[in-house]
Amino acid sequence: MSQDDLKRLAAKAALEYVVEGSIIGVGTGSTVNHFIDQLAGIKHLIDGAVSSSEASTKRMKMHGIPLYDLNASGQLDLYVDGTDESTRYLHLIKGGGGALTREKIVAAASKRFVCIADDSKLVERLGAFPLPIEVIPMARSYVARELVKLGGTPMWREGFTTDNGNLILDIHNLEIMEPVEMEKELNNIAGIVTVGLFAIRPADILILGTQEGIKTIQ
Ligand code: 5RP
Repeated sequence: MSQDDLKRLAAKAALEYVVEGSIIGVGTGSTVNHFIDQLAGIKHLIDGAVSSSEASTKRMKMHGIPLYDLNASGQLDLYVDGTDESTRYLHLIKGGGGALTREKIVAAASKRFVCIADDSKLVERLGAFPLPIEVIPMARSYVARELVKLGGTPMWREGFTTDNGNLILDIHNLEIMEPVEMEKELNNIAGIVTVGLFAIRPADILILGTQEGIKTIQ
């Protein structure tokens, strides 16, 4: 099976966690696109969805899935999203698609976070994938200098603007030994909107598509 097939497999398995009549939090990315396409098949069973990005909103609208504003939906039972890296402790690096801020908000507002991925995303230690950080445009250089002090090599994702009108710095060569501590430290730098580390609020369940079938870690 191709990597895309494995993503589809994981996305399909996440449907099991969908509760009838509920509003589902929906992430962003190619794995989530498979989830959205499959959610469309059971859209008559759910109340609707809260989206984490303009891209997912567009795809769900195309499928006729009713959309809610997070301010109107209240706490969600379930959030389904992909990841760029995950450890077995379900600490994640996310934001490869640049949607990390809204993803983190919807994840925080959800009781259960089901993460879906192909098994190449499971790593021993986070950091081989450059850590995305959303920054306020005027703070870009300042934040980059602070990140260099921490040992990282920030690269500006030029030509990319987030759904919130901000910029992304991708941090290479960061040793992430203690994800929770690092997330807290980075959160304290002025000008950073969101850090793509999801460790303070990790995933609750990781569904991996593998050549042998589904593997679930919780
Ligand atoms: C977007 C994300 C995605 O979940 C992450 O980049 C994984 O993407 P894909 O499912 O395409 O591999 O965090 O901001």
